[in-house]
Amino acid sequence: MVFHGTRDVLFKFIREHGGRGAIKIAVVGCSAGEEVYSLLAALDQAGLRSRVELRAIDNDPQMLIRAQRAAYSFGEYGGRQNFFEGLAREYREYFVEHPTDSAFFTLVPRIKKGVHFQLADAAKSDFKTNVPRQDVVVMNNVLVHVQAEEREKIISNVINSLSPGGLLITNEDIDHPSLIPAGRAGAIRSYVLRLDSAAQYAQ
Ligand SMILES: C[S@@+](CC[C@H](N)C(=O)[O-])C[C@H]1O[C@@H](n2cnc3c(N)ncnc32)[C@H](O)[C@@H]1O
Repeated sequence: MVFHGTRDVLFKFIREHGGRGAIKIAVVGCSAGEEVYSLLAALDQAGLRSRVELRAIDNDPQMLIRAQRAAYSFGEYGGRQNFFEGLAREYREYFVEHPTDSAFFTLVPRIKKGVHFQLADAAKSDFKTNVPRQDVVVMNNVLVHVQAEEREKIISNVINSLSPGGLLITNEDIDHPSLIPAGRAGAIRSYVLRLDSAAQYAQ
C-alpha cells in the first residue's frame, strides 16, 4: 500500500538522520490532505513528530481549502461506525467528529496545526523561489496525472528542491541522472539526490 511504504521509508530516513535539526519534508500534490494528515498522525504515534517540519503543496487552490478544512465524509468510509471501528487502535486518538457537521470527521487540532499548506505549482519555474529546500519530498500519484512535458518539469523542480543527499519518495518510476535509486517498499520507490548534483537553488 502506498501509505505504508511511504511511512516506512520516511521513518527510516528520519531515524538515520538524527541530530541535525528539524527534517524538512514536503508532500507535493497533497490534494485534500488525507495523505499528509495520515503521515503526521503516524509520525506523532511513533514519537517522531518533533523531528520534522511538514509542508503540503498543491497547485489547486480548491484542494488546499479542502485540506485546511480537513472535513472528510463518514459516508466515503462506510459510515461513522465502520470508520471508527476500522481504525487501528493506536490511531483512534487522532480522529474526531467534525465540530460543525456530524456527517464528517476531522483531525484533532494538534495534527491539523502540524502541517504548513502552500499553494505552488511544481511544474512552474518559480517553484524554487516559493518552496524552501527540502530534506525529503513525498510525491505520490501526481506524475501519472500530468502530460509528458509537465512531468519532466515537475521532476526537475522537485530534484532542484532537494538538499544534497535528500530523499525523493514516490510511487512513480523515475530515471534521472541526478537521482540514485535507494530502494523499494511495495509500490514505493525512493531516490537519493546525488551529492555532486547539488542544485542551484534560491533559499
Ligand atoms: C491524485 S492527487 C494525489 C494525492 C495524494 N498525493 C495521494 O497520493 O493520495 C494529485 C494531486 O496533485 C496535484 N498536482 C497536479 N499537478 C501539480 C503540480 N504541477 N504542482 C502541484 N500539485 C499538482 C493535483 O492538484 C492533485 O491534488
